[in-house]
Amino acid sequence: MKAISYILPSMAYGGDYNPEQWEENVWYEDAVLMKKAGVNLVSVGIFSWAVLEREEGRFDFTWLDKVMDILHEHGVGVCLATATASPPAWLSRNYPESLAVDSSGVRYSFGSRQHYSPNSPVYRKAVKKLVTKLAERYKDHPALKMWHINNEYGCHVSECYSPDSLEAFRAWLRRRYTTVDTLNEKWGTNFWSQRYNYFDDVTFLNNTPTFPNPGQQLDYKRFMNDSLFELYLLEKKILRDITPGVPVFTNFMFEFKPLNYFSWARELDVVTWDTYPDPREGTPEAHAMQHDLMRSLKDGQPFLVMEQVTSHVNWRDINVPKKPGEMRLWSYSATARGSDGIMFFQWRQSRAGAEKFHGAMVPHSGDENSRTYREVQQLGEELKLLDSLTGAVVPAKAAIIFDWENWWAVEMEGKPHNKLSYLEQVKTYYHTFYKQNIAVDFVQPGSDLSSYHFVAAPMLYMLKDGEEKNLENYVGEGGTLVVSFFSGIVDENDRIHLGYYPEPLRHVLGMHVEEFVPMAEADTNQLSAGTDHYRCTTWSDVIHLDTAEAAAYFTGDWYQGRPAVTTNPYGKGKAVYVGTEPEQAFIDDLLTGLMREKGITPPAFAPQNVEIVERTSGKGRHLVIVNHNQEETRIELESGRSYVDLLTGTEVENEVIVQAVDVLVLREAEQK
Ligand code: GLA
Ligand code: GLA
Repeated sequence: MKAISYILPSMAYGGDYNPEQWEENVWYEDAVLMKKAGVNLVSVGIFSWAVLEREEGRFDFTWLDKVMDILHEHGVGVCLATATASPPAWLSRNYPESLAVDSSGVRYSFGSRQHYSPNSPVYRKAVKKLVTKLAERYKDHPALKMWHINNEYGCHVSECYSPDSLEAFRAWLRRRYTTVDTLNEKWGTNFWSQRYNYFDDVTFLNNTPTFPNPGQQLDYKRFMNDSLFELYLLEKKILRDITPGVPVFTNFMFEFKPLNYFSWARELDVVTWDTYPDPREGTPEAHAMQHDLMRSLKDGQPFLVMEQVTSHVNWRDINVPKKPGEMRLWSYSATARGSDGIMFFQWRQSRAGAEKFHGAMVPHSGDENSRTYREVQQLGEELKLLDSLTGAVVPAKAAIIFDWENWWAVEMEGKPHNKLSYLEQVKTYYHTFYKQNIAVDFVQPGSDLSSYHFVAAPMLYMLKDGEEKNLENYVGEGGTLVVSFFSGIVDENDRIHLGYYPEPLRHVLGMHVEEFVPMAEADTNQLSAGTDHYRCTTWSDVIHLDTAEAAAYFTGDWYQGRPAVTTNPYGKGKAVYVGTEPEQAFIDDLLTGLMREKGITPPAFAPQNVEIVERTSGKGRHLVIVNHNQEETRIELESGRSYVDLLTGTEVENEVIVQAVDVLVLREAEQK
């Protein structure tokens, strides 16, 4: 089992707490209600800069001192925010150049949040001062449990075109390429006369007449990721120096493209993220996928849901609330997949401001008998029974390759097919695992793959130096690899790997592609695989076999009879190529067959819409079963093992009934 760097002492339960929006008497009421609801952790101060530093250098911590004390007296820990997510009005007034600039060259205005330029030296300096003050002041406060750095980096402003950012971009390029000749070569600037003589010739690509240079676009994305990451690291360093023992993190977001969370995660003591499934979409499979991704960012370590909502948000066109029981159920889906607690945005529903119609743990009525508060209280009570889950991992024998830089590159314009979505391709493969409750991790193309028996690489367009060897070695050592169309096409600068596609993977796949055939939206083709037929759409590869065998053929169009799916035995393993976008049933059948060969099975079999996930640690082997159906379900358990139902304390074996819209958390009993 991989080492866990930080384990929460118990299941965290609570949410964002914004006491500065309320009179002091409400703080006492809050603390009492928190205690009643089983809250043990709240995030304080996320947007408090303006009331902590009222004017430049004029700090006022009196209110926060009091809040920290009250919370501590009521047994509520504090995840103290560094308050840097929304700089105060005085910063924009005194230093307008600290504001971020949008892609049309216009400065953002003050009055919402996250308006700072990540590359503003003024903002950075002010951040350092504030964070140092906060850390010095609260380093010994017994309520301080964790540091919440900034908030959702990049959420609103993930690109900045300010003069400070341009200067920083040029410096970043100098560091990356040393000479401008190297930059020219990597970006292919002889194309369209884009050659630069000096690093200072490089400008932003925010207003080019047509397609901008792809290598430069890609590097700009890397640069913005790094700019925001520098902000995080700058704060982290201060906190580490002053409070070395207090864990630090920032909160990640749903399907968030601009930040390469794999590289960020290394610098977080615990990965946390904010999950807001839209109740209109039914079972939150996409969020389950993100939970699995979040767990994977730090090699399988537990994460923490830092925000979700009790009922409804206020930022969709129509904000449908979660139905009774759904908040609980979806919380367990997160817990099953590795979350060591559940936190909400926010504790008390705001009276004023842009989020006053956003749900909270305590609604506007303030009523303990409201549906919302009762559900909050119930979950709080339940989580207290689940401490043995903390630190437990989800053992997975299968993995899906996910790579942020590939996401950036493959969705830039000028491709054979410009409506391809990387996430949609990944989701097609993830669906098979989700539906069958087979545990799956996400990995990077250069990750150590030796603990997996099965790896899927959907649309891995960008293959960087050494990654092909990693995949080859994995298969050579006995792994099964599935690669799908438009993979292995470019290097890290978006330059083609010359030769037949996918050049770097030809060896392991034993086939090559002569031509791409993107399909018009209304077009379909068909695959024949033995006696079975499946629909396919979007894309066809014209494939030639080298050492591979065809596992399915196209039945229509001018390339009919040519292979569509191929299998190549390689070393001790096998590499499969899927040269089209088949209907889901084909992916399900293909992956299921390959996993069966490898003995990869779910922890128990279940009907549709029932999640079963295993979480294991030194404290025991758990099964979390989440029934999203409106009717009860019967689950057969592995015989010869007995379990304790942690929510009721009863012992079970052989089979269990899970009620409609309900959960079971089973811990395997010690062997008698
Ligand atoms: C135009 C331009 C060419 C090239 C082609 C591509 O014709 O003149 O330089 O960009 O489009 O279709
Ligand atoms: C994000 C932010 C919170 C709040 C919620 C509302 O997650 O971090 O401050 O705005 O959205 O859903």
